[in-house]
Amino acid sequence: MEQQDILEVRNLKKYFTARTDFFGRPTAYLKAVDNVNFSMKKGETLGLVGESGCGKSTIGRTIIRLYKPTAGEILFNGKVIDNQTEEKQLRRNMQMIFQDPYASLNPRMTVGDIIGEPLDIHGLAIDGERRSRIVSLLQMVGLNSEHANRFPHEFSGGQRQRIGIARALSIEPSFIICDEPISALDVSIQAQVVNLLKDLQEKLGLTYLFIAHDLAMVKHISSRVAVMYLGKFVELAETGELYGTPQHPYTKALLSAISIPDPVIEVNRKRIHLVGDVQSPSNVPVGCAFRPRCHCAIAICAEQEPLLIDAGRGHMVACHVIHKM
Ligand SMILES: Nc1ncnc2c1ncn2[C@@H]1O[C@H](COP(=O)(O)OP(=O)(O)OP(=O)(O)O)[C@@H](O)[C@H]1O
Ligand code: SF4
Ligand SMILES: [Mg+2]
Repeated sequence: MEQQDILEVRNLKKYFTARTDFFGRPTAYLKAVDNVNFSMKKGETLGLVGESGCGKSTIGRTIIRLYKPTAGEILFNGKVIDNQTEEKQLRRNMQMIFQDPYASLNPRMTVGDIIGEPLDIHGLAIDGERRSRIVSLLQMVGLNSEHANRFPHEFSGGQRQRIGIARALSIEPSFIICDEPISALDVSIQAQVVNLLKDLQEKLGLTYLFIAHDLAMVKHISSRVAVMYLGKFVELAETGELYGTPQHPYTKALLSAISIPDPVIEVNRKRIHLVGDVQSPSNVPVGCAFRPRCHCAIAICAEQEPLLIDAGRGHMVACHVIHKM
């Protein structure tokens, strides 16, 4: 039997108002997420990468409904999430881990209360069990019972991220959006936190949407990877496919800038320098949004937007040149 999708995102758009007229009516929009489609299977990790400002966090925040979508549909476990969906019920199943654990942990609360708060909110803290539940969550993320009485400032960056993970896990969600959870950590600590997330996924059957700005970070945790450029997916493939045979010029440029510890990939690697900066999402070029920075562009790229189409083996690419070959 085909495994059911835990998440389905259809034609998702999230536009912010960029300019208003004298009466406060919007006259220009910033298209942070512009017509994104994807689905996720239970237990998988989808990596989401792209340069700063391409809309990664906005996708995460719209899925968990911190933002209301401008258009499109999000289905969770087969049910549409909309204004009628009870927020508490959604948060029970879906949690988010943030880049800066310090900013997302209340400095005046003890770690025990930080982890216990979601249990209280959801009425899951049965008197005698609250403490033992907090202790087992601390142990699950590699901390111990003594840490429960301390405050966030007494911890290192890596430990604070572990506290953030314990808090997110406290109410046993099935889906977690990890928004750059390791980007602010020392390189030496990053692998530890990724390994912790992987272990927890195996133990608890979690599904992750794992956001990062570079491809090196998502390789070891993702089963599939999506590359975003200016609010759109430009490539989406199984991790081995994407790193082994990248197709889109933007993905190739991103990959060429990092070192991949795989001898075959490393030998075939050519450095491609990305020229220019990402354009503003309030001023997206006609045709392909990547064209001003693309060294492969042809005439049609200035006229028609390339669609995200299967280029073989389920490897989805949005590029006119790839689909012409
Ligand atoms: N609340 C908001 N109001 C207005 N514009 C916003 C808002 N949130 C994000 N944006 C804009 O939407 C675009 C996408 O932002 P987003 O934070 O999703 O990017 P990102 O890919 O997560 O970048 P980063 O790697 O820097 O975290 C940016 O141009 C950003 O300025
Ligand atoms: S569609 Fe054209 S401009 Fe866009 S990435 Fe492909 S070749 Fe480059
Ligand atoms: Mg972000």
